Amino acid sequence: MKPYVHLNCAMTADGKIATKDSTLKISGHDDLIRVHKLRKKYDAIMVGINTILVDNPRLSIHKINSEIEDNPTRIVIDSRARTPINSRVLNDDAETIIITSSKAKKEDVNRLSKKATVLSVGTDRVDLVGAMDKLYDLGIESILLEGGATLNYSMLEEKLVDKISVCIGSKILGGKDSITMVDGEGFDKENCVKLEIEDYYKLDDDIVIEYKVIH
Ligand SMILES: NC(=O)c1ccc[n+]([C@@H]2O[C@H](COP(=O)([O-])OP(=O)(O)OC[C@H]3O[C@@H](n4cnc5c(N)ncnc54)[C@H](OP(=O)(O)O)[C@@H]3O)[C@@H](O)[C@H]2O)c1
Repeated sequence: MKPYVHLNCAMTADGKIATKDSTLKISGHDDLIRVHKLRKKYDAIMVGINTILVDNPRLSIHKINSEIEDNPTRIVIDSRARTPINSRVLNDDAETIIITSSKAKKEDVNRLSKKATVLSVGTDRVDLVGAMDKLYDLGIESILLEGGATLNYSMLEEKLVDKISVCIGSKILGGKDSITMVDGEGFDKENCVKLEIEDYYKLDDDIVIEYKVIH
């Protein structure tokens, strides 16, 4: 068994999720509120290590009225245990699970173990299928996946994503250095991810589209 996974992201009209320095706010205030309401519905929020290093997110519910107990568990996919000890994802607002691989150095794992549960799954990069199994066994039945592009790709490649919500901000970024919603090697025409639109609506100047992933 694996957790139900919902990938959520904000992108520009040309599919970019961040500038290289990650300073642009892609979607508006209403979308931020939507995301925080969404977080409340999930057992956990998951991101890749680069998102932690670049954005230093709290990954908690703090834009809407909420109790600290409502905060989902935070999960960081981090083969080499590079999560900085002072990062906001390790604050006391919620539990944190850091998933590493055999590549992580013992001293880094020991350092992080003081602030989080550290699991090792995989020999090189994190084995995401194994990680999902382990998380389900720990009682995590649903995950909101919040990027970034590299982790989004791997999760789709492993067919671990069930639903996708995209908020399209009314902006265009362009440029080869701006990150897109899904990176990686790319799929060929047989293996591209097939989606079915479940809902769409306008939020401020943005539009949200919800898709079911067809497996
Ligand atoms: N607009 C949005 O909605 C949104 C949301 C989130 C992030 N972002 C942006 O996305 C950017 C970060 O994205 P990113 O693509 O650079 O990185 P990322 O997806 O956040 O993290 C990728 C890293 O995760 C680690 N990892 C370990 N096992 C993995 C596996 N099996 N598959 C994939 N990754 C694995 C790898 O580092 P190790 O090998 O060192 O473990 C990999 O480089 C930031 O600029 C951030 O602002 C935007």
